[in-house]
Amino acid sequence: MRKLVAGNWKMHGLAADLDEVRAIAAGAQRFPSVEVALCVPATLIERAARAVPGFAIGAQDVHFADRGAHTGCVCTAMLTDAGASLAIVGHSERREAQRESDAEVKAKAEAALAAGLGVILCVGESPEVREAGDAVAAVSAQLDASLPRCAIDGLAVAYEPIWAIGTGKVASCEDIAEMHRAIRGRLLAAYGDAGGQVRILYGGSVKASNAPEIFEVADVDGALVGGASLRAEDFLPIVEAAARP
Ligand code: PGA
Repeated sequence: MRKLVAGNWKMHGLAADLDEVRAIAAGAQRFPSVEVALCVPATLIERAARAVPGFAIGAQDVHFADRGAHTGCVCTAMLTDAGASLAIVGHSERREAQRESDAEVKAKAEAALAAGLGVILCVGESPEVREAGDAVAAVSAQLDASLPRCAIDGLAVAYEPIWAIGTGKVASCEDIAEMHRAIRGRLLAAYGDAGGQVRILYGGSVKASNAPEIFEVADVDGALVGGASLRAEDFLPIVEAAARP
């Protein structure tokens, strides 16, 4: 399966950072076997998409409604109009801080896929759940309740243990393998054979130094990268690692 390496810029990115977008897009061309995308703040989507035609620029969230009285929100048509080709949904930082439910995440994924946007649907457990030994059961349940029930072309799932995001702590390869195997099982149960084609990304403190071993784990089909996606010099070596056969 062609790997997907997506950057999540979170609440970082001003006009001055468009040069970094250009450097990442130019560098990514050296690795045509890898699909590369950058999910930037909504305010930067249109300028980023114009700066790097043909390179995938994404959003970090989208509303499930197609229009209406939703102050501060952005719908799928606004994203495609701005030049986005994908959206992250259900990131733990939104599930926690904006109290997004599984049902809402599912509705967002369905709206985005119906609009022709790629979707990176995030799931992951808290440190308490991991310590209690319930990680696989909790993530499986979260996934079952969040998965879109529609045509799934363009869907990817990102496993992002909350305790590994922005902390420098990375899940062990054994833990990643166990979780990705469980996620693959849930995808097959939900979608039949098509579930075998859904990419499963790992996210949480991925950097150039740990990417090669993470990409060797079975059922790791790419990465969702936060901090290390902000600069081309940090991000491109991760893309390079994904390109290794
Ligand atoms: P990180 O973030 O790579 O900075 O840990 C990953 C994410 O939250 O998508």
